[in-house]
Amino acid sequence: MAALSSEPNILPIAQIGDPVLRQRAREVTREELLGDTTQRFIDDLIATMRDANGAGLAAIQVSEPVRIVAIEVGDNPRYPYKPKIPLTVLVNPVLTPLTEETFDVFEGCLSVPNLRGEVTRTVGVRVQAWDRHGNDIDLEVWGLSAGTYQHECDHLDGKLFVDRVKDPATLCTWETFDRFHKEAFIKRAEALVAKHGG
Ligand code: NI
Repeated sequence: MAALSSEPNILPIAQIGDPVLRQRAREVTREELLGDTTQRFIDDLIATMRDANGAGLAAIQVSEPVRIVAIEVGDNPRYPYKPKIPLTVLVNPVLTPLTEETFDVFEGCLSVPNLRGEVTRTVGVRVQAWDRHGNDIDLEVWGLSAGTYQHECDHLDGKLFVDRVKDPATLCTWETFDRFHKEAFIKRAEALVAKHGG
């Protein structure tokens, strides 16, 4: 008999231009969520996010168009200024803005290699979802972390951060971000975190 538990797999991450990224991902049923196949898939999603140093990863980015995302921010070399977020798996998430206040933030994405650009995000969102076991999640997220949640949930509707870049002149590579934009951006990011604690 095959062992039920095995090491998680690192899955290939779909890149911009792959039509899978432009679909609307479908809702997951509770029965499907609790089944072995989905539970193993969630383990693979988390392992793939960690392997790529992502702050989050949506199922659709590994070519599974279902409404599941993983988010986790520890000591992240891609985003050293991001406040920490413990591992969070959201299933069928719904985000509701808590304010009209917005902030501008440089984003990047594992599906958009070597590109960053400035997008506008709502400064606070209510997040309603299931966790990976089907328990209700209902939380408020503020500041930079709210941006991370919005970025990941955008993926479920086939949206990439590049769609939200208002000024293409803000587009940069990771190298030119570090050289020309990082210092000013980190000051802004720190002010945002100080104000909103996230
Ligand atoms: Ni992304």
